[in-house]
Amino acid sequence: MRLAHCSDLHLLSLEGARTLDFASKRWIGGMNLLTNRGRHYHTEAFEDMVADLNALGVDHVLCTGDVTNLAFEQEFRFARVLFDRLTLGAHGVTVLPGNHDAYVDEGRAHFAAIFADYATTDPGWTWDDGAPSSEAGPWPIVRVRAGVAIIGISTSFQTPWFTAYGRVGERQLARLGRALADPRLRGMARVVAIHHPPAGRRARSRIRGLKDREAFAAVIALHGAELVVHGHEHRDLRGTLPARSGVVDVLGVPSGTYEAGKPDRTARYRVFDIGDGAVISHHLRVWDRDRRAFDRDVAEPAELAS
Ligand SMILES: [Fe+2]
Ligand SMILES: [Fe+2]
Repeated sequence: MRLAHCSDLHLLSLEGARTLDFASKRWIGGMNLLTNRGRHYHTEAFEDMVADLNALGVDHVLCTGDVTNLAFEQEFRFARVLFDRLTLGAHGVTVLPGNHDAYVDEGRAHFAAIFADYATTDPGWTWDDGAPSSEAGPWPIVRVRAGVAIIGISTSFQTPWFTAYGRVGERQLARLGRALADPRLRGMARVVAIHHPPAGRRARSRIRGLKDREAFAAVIALHGAELVVHGHEHRDLRGTLPARSGVVDVLGVPSGTYEAGKPDRTARYRVFDIGDGAVISHHLRVWDRDRRAFDRDVAEPAELAS
């Protein structure tokens, strides 16, 4: 099974930018967007990524959030049109929200409505713990595809100005434990997908980190996982989390649309080859802006846990 992981697309439509209302928190976000972000995040990179994914014939695409900048309805609609060009369709593409998709509270509702079929949970994986829908919603979602169980977590909600931290929450952590321990997933590769980094120095940031990273790590320690992937930092991050069953790789992928003359951060996505319940190998596909193509493979060691 070939799984592609991308993140932090920050797709911007000019139409959306023109209608910025600069109200409340969006004023700061809007200014930042117009002065910096819009120059460095290129929608055409995602168009090229979609073409590459369609040509490559991957089995599943996973995007760990920040599809928008300011969580405007128009931005989600714009992003959705681009995702719909993936020939795999929503059954073969999983999208999680990131903090930018929850930049303001209504962003969560826009994501839930507009990206609904990219974030469905499989039949039999709804939670019967009596939680009010406002608390944890349907999360985590579980999508089993060809022996791989993708467990998608939502960490994002509106946070104060100048902050971008995330939280899994007790309810979702309990459900994550149940999913990882579920006998239906025995023998499968369990891939836990989360926007915020759950391990390493950046996870500990009070401004941008994951508040309940220790509780998350405890769930992984107890139940194990075959892989954890995240976004948010727009950098190639490689960490690990300990588990009773052995060390779990935690891989963060840089932005899929960024290009600003920094070769190590140029838009890219990661491809995992997975079989027999484990990750066999992975490599990166990197964008070339001049050639308008993701046509460069960067090899990575299969074993990063050392
Ligand atoms: Fe981001
Ligand atoms: Fe983020």
